[in-house]
Amino acid sequence: MSDIQQAAQHLAAGELVAMPTETVYGLAADASNPAAVAKIFAAKGRPADHPLIVHIGDVAQLERWARDIPPAAYALAAKYWPGPLTLILKRQPGVPDAVTGGQDTVGIRIPNHPMALSLLAEFAKLGSGAVAAPSANKFGRISPTKAAHVKSDLGKDVAIILDGGECAVGIESTIVDLSRGAPVVLRPGAITEEEIAATVAGTDHTPQAPVAAAAAPRVSGALAAHYAPRTPLQLIASDALLKQVDACVFKGQTIAVLAFSVSPLRHPAVLWFAAAHSAAHYAHDLYANLRLLDAAGVDLILVEQPPQSPEWRAVTDRLGRAAVGSGADADGEAS
Ligand code: TXA
Ligand code: MG
Repeated sequence: MSDIQQAAQHLAAGELVAMPTETVYGLAADASNPAAVAKIFAAKGRPADHPLIVHIGDVAQLERWARDIPPAAYALAAKYWPGPLTLILKRQPGVPDAVTGGQDTVGIRIPNHPMALSLLAEFAKLGSGAVAAPSANKFGRISPTKAAHVKSDLGKDVAIILDGGECAVGIESTIVDLSRGAPVVLRPGAITEEEIAATVAGTDHTPQAPVAAAAAPRVSGALAAHYAPRTPLQLIASDALLKQVDACVFKGQTIAVLAFSVSPLRHPAVLWFAAAHSAAHYAHDLYANLRLLDAAGVDLILVEQPPQSPEWRAVTDRLGRAAVGSGADADGEAS
């Protein structure tokens, strides 16, 4: 029996499976089985009211999970699925509360990774064919982009880890809320707000006033402190970087630097990592880099601020959250 068939059997038996996707590794359980979904929350240490994304293998399954699906959703699905895009839609009444956090909406995507798609196809033969899957990391910590990351965080909690190599995209999917009329981007990702707007422009959605913050759904990726290394991390403008490095060295601090330029100095207290210059490449490396920077055992991580343009927005968002959440010495210090 192949690893994928075995993993599908574990899902059907209500066990947890770590699966690769093109964004980050997911911690998957049968989305139709509340007891299986409960194991995700226990393994991650995630609050039970934080909703999960349902991963399906085929757009034909969409209507089993969502209702009142607007044309904009089909337009986005046709253009970007399988791919790094999650749609928030009104839920079907049968969707377990454990998946939606009790909300009246559900997040859905088709991941673009051959192993994930094979797993979903195999699981469709044995069970619901849909898995609820958050990123396969402890709550509030850095998302995994390699099988080894999953193993070190959650290895003892899963029945099997499918190793699909490095995640091609490297940061989580763009989340678009289509449940309240005009689309609202809840989490930036590789697919930009501009691309979303261009795709839905020709479709028939009902424009509404922007969602008030208080009415906005709970999104754990929207917590200020998320994706966080344990070492304090500071984002620093390009023109202030070298001065800050000097100041740290002068204070006797050891530092790790992630910067676009090559190191201008050799100093035993300074570890210098060269960052990729394209946003896509930077995103691909981001979480592995944050883990390396964190493992360096330095007093402080300095990250050079990326450019302001739209393609860098998702990376800048994750770095900002990493900075806010950094320095916590225990799991689950995410809020
Ligand atoms: O790329 C991804 O989206 C990865 C891979 C594994 O697919 N998954 C991921 O899951 O990032 P997670 O649980 O770490 O983040 C999912 C986000 C959370 O911030 C959650 O609150 C939000 O999606 N979400 C899920 N359902 C929602 C809903 N009904 N309304 C609003 N936000 C929702
Ligand atoms: Mg996550």
